[in-house]
Amino acid sequence: MAHVYQNYLGGEWIAAASGRTFEDVNPADRGDVLGGFPRSDATDVDRAVQAAQEGFARWRRVPAPRRAEVVLRAGQILRQRKEELGRLMTREMGKVLAEALGDVQEGIDTAEYMAGEGRRLFGVHAPCELPQKFGVAIRVPVGVVAAITPWNFPLAIPTWKILPALVCGNAVVFKPAEDTPLLATRLVEILAEAGLPGGVLNMVQGFGEEAGSALVRHPGVNLVSFTGSTEVGRRVATVCAQEGKKVSLEMGGKNAIVVMDDAQLDLAVDGAVWGGFGTSGQRCTAASRVIVHEAVAGAFTDRFVERVRRLRLGPGLEPTTDVGPVINARQLERIHQYTEVGRREGARVLTGGEPATEGALARGFFYRPTVFVEVEPKMRIAREEIFGPSVAVLRARSLEDAIEIANATPYGLSSAIYTRDIDRAFRAIEALATGITYVNASTIGAEVQFPFGGVRQTGNGHREGGWTALDIMTEWKTVYIDYSGRLQRAQIDV
Ligand code: UN1
Repeated sequence: MAHVYQNYLGGEWIAAASGRTFEDVNPADRGDVLGGFPRSDATDVDRAVQAAQEGFARWRRVPAPRRAEVVLRAGQILRQRKEELGRLMTREMGKVLAEALGDVQEGIDTAEYMAGEGRRLFGVHAPCELPQKFGVAIRVPVGVVAAITPWNFPLAIPTWKILPALVCGNAVVFKPAEDTPLLATRLVEILAEAGLPGGVLNMVQGFGEEAGSALVRHPGVNLVSFTGSTEVGRRVATVCAQEGKKVSLEMGGKNAIVVMDDAQLDLAVDGAVWGGFGTSGQRCTAASRVIVHEAVAGAFTDRFVERVRRLRLGPGLEPTTDVGPVINARQLERIHQYTEVGRREGARVLTGGEPATEGALARGFFYRPTVFVEVEPKMRIAREEIFGPSVAVLRARSLEDAIEIANATPYGLSSAIYTRDIDRAFRAIEALATGITYVNASTIGAEVQFPFGGVRQTGNGHREGGWTALDIMTEWKTVYIDYSGRLQRAQIDV
């Protein structure tokens, strides 16, 4: 019997009120169960929010530099335990070890960056129009923050939300994805070890329909910060609109790499392989489309497919593995359905296009790296997020044509262009409708000190990462101090 883990409420580890649990399974080997976790519902969520409200009342009064010390210590513990956490992440979520270590590193980077904010959290001063009147805008915490996170970055994305929330003086209720509850538990343990007082960070494990939706609806939650699918994000936004809550959303992507006829082709192939198949294509930033200038489309596709055919599937802990499993049986099925959709639409599979079940792969959820050609911009596989190792190659006649195709999806997270022509690069930067654009690099590789997020249906205008995360996690409060000792009327007595 695998170990049974608990929720974290008000500084205590507690089972779900219902006593129910769910299993956490290794996607590379479904016989490997990492543990049982509480299947929480509205009762557990209510306790968590109450604990957070009490935690918030105390935490907001702790000076920001002191709050930040806890975050810095958590970063130091993450660094000490990087290897162990990376291995555990590969076992829990499947991504290859190097990428799992990168995920932990992204958490360390976030801790270090956000700890520095403890001594900044800059406000803004501007002169007042009236004499002996002083005006300043300061940041104040929002209150209780619901952090709802996906499984594809089990450590990095929770830190993007939780660490700035804490430095800014909020309390948090954390609802991690049900596919990666153990890494979430480790993160909470580390923050407790770093000295975070009870009630400031609470965690409820479980499913979206039960725990997640109760959390989003709870009147004691002031802000919902959600990363996940566009479908669920819309529902979250609808509830938040009805309840009058602040909400930040980071949702789907259908990111394109544009390869121009003057590109360094080998570099572009490297970028397409890494962006398309890193993390088995399970990144919001994955390069799921490559739009190639027709003059080099043949040469690019030959080299690309040749490289993709050589990618080795396997468990992420094996040093020989290039591409690990996908997260679960449902996703495996969904990815394959998209392959069928693509075939029916008239696109052609050059490699992959089926689950991989030979030998030990049958124990996990593996899908062969898939490349589609003869893809038209209107096809579903060119517009919808697949979130798996499946890349659509499209052709373009010119830069303008390529940009039009790149923008012809509902999403706008990341984009890339490979060209050696500086004018083309700048024209692409200007015209690609995404929150992030790379020049001569793939669509993945965001760093924590910069804004992260997308336009159109990828998000709702907020940006995580860097200083922009503070705009999510604080409200602006404007303070006027009149030291003239008489009534002064703005806009009138000037
Ligand atoms: C995500 O896919 O949700 O730029 C996050 C990147 C990573 C973060 C991805 N640093 O791909």
